Amino acid sequence: MKINNIPRTSIWAIEAALGSVLSQDRAVGIIDQTLLPFAVEDRILRTVDDIAEAISAMRVRGAPLIGVTAAFGLAFAMRDDPSFENLTTKAALLAATRPTAVNLAWALNKVTNVLITAPANLRAELAWHTAKDVAADDVATNFAIGQHGLKIIEELHHKLQRPVNILTHCNAGWVATVDWGTALSPIYQAHDAGIPVHVWVEETRPRNQGLLTAWELREHGVPHTYIVDNAGGHFMQHGKVDMVIVGADRVSGTGDVANKIGTYQKALAARDNNIPFYAALPLSTIDWTLKDALADIEIEERNAAEIRMLRGVSTKGTAENFTILDAGSPVANPGFDVTPARLITGIITERGITGVAELHQWQN
Ligand code: MRU
Repeated sequence: MKINNIPRTSIWAIEAALGSVLSQDRAVGIIDQTLLPFAVEDRILRTVDDIAEAISAMRVRGAPLIGVTAAFGLAFAMRDDPSFENLTTKAALLAATRPTAVNLAWALNKVTNVLITAPANLRAELAWHTAKDVAADDVATNFAIGQHGLKIIEELHHKLQRPVNILTHCNAGWVATVDWGTALSPIYQAHDAGIPVHVWVEETRPRNQGLLTAWELREHGVPHTYIVDNAGGHFMQHGKVDMVIVGADRVSGTGDVANKIGTYQKALAARDNNIPFYAALPLSTIDWTLKDALADIEIEERNAAEIRMLRGVSTKGTAENFTILDAGSPVANPGFDVTPARLITGIITERGITGVAELHQWQN
């Protein structure tokens, strides 16, 4: 996608000129998402510790992107010490950075499985190329999600003969992936195909990922309106929402969807108003091992400072943090919730659209 009309991805591999195999020259670039949308600044990551810090501090975020970033982390670890012990230690370090999105473990397993049988002297090279493949696959996967999801929007447009109003929560756009996004990919592709859309962008406290969604949509010229989280149900009741699309961080084989905190309430409101509710995700977001999503998915408890503070531009024109609640009141800050399958109309993946009951068809 583009920033100021210049094509960008949210992460990119940096290699020395002339395709040097001197793996010390390798690094990855990211857009530091803690600064968005107030500033667009690139950051270069060169070590596994840089990668772990970037994921836990949410410089990179969004389930697919943290998986891709972690894969590069293992490549840096193998460059520095290709032993089996280092592989398992650093995979565990990276896996612990954020617990809820299963794409992180999925990507680490993918790289580990390639390395495990390889001789130590080949591991650095193999890990680097596998990480680059994981990144490239993410782009193709998200494009395919968009192609499938676009059909739902197109059908709604034919039926309604007016712009389709879509509500989304959090940011499941291109900066949450390598490119295209998951929930936003169908929206971008509908817009590009000339289908009129309008997006209700929920703020998504406490980290306000809605700011990223609004910024992305603005850069791409997609009509949208920014709303506070509490307003979604109201617009649904008044016929202003035709469908909901969200991303996902972990989905059970039976279709329960863990996504950003607040998603469950939107699904309840959508059901009450007979509005279709879709989750768009790569198959790597499905955790087939889950027996009971509500009990078994670890919900990340994030720092209280995220609730006590807001980030914005001060009257001086600089981006700053503002305290809105002091330590006098305790806070709780679960990062995600689980929407039960019964509230989900369909799951959009790179292989197509399915009802939750048929999701198991894609297990293999
Ligand atoms: O805490 P975040 O910003 O990493 O959470 C992101 C979300 O919940 C997204 O909706 C989800 O990862 C899907 S991203 C394509």
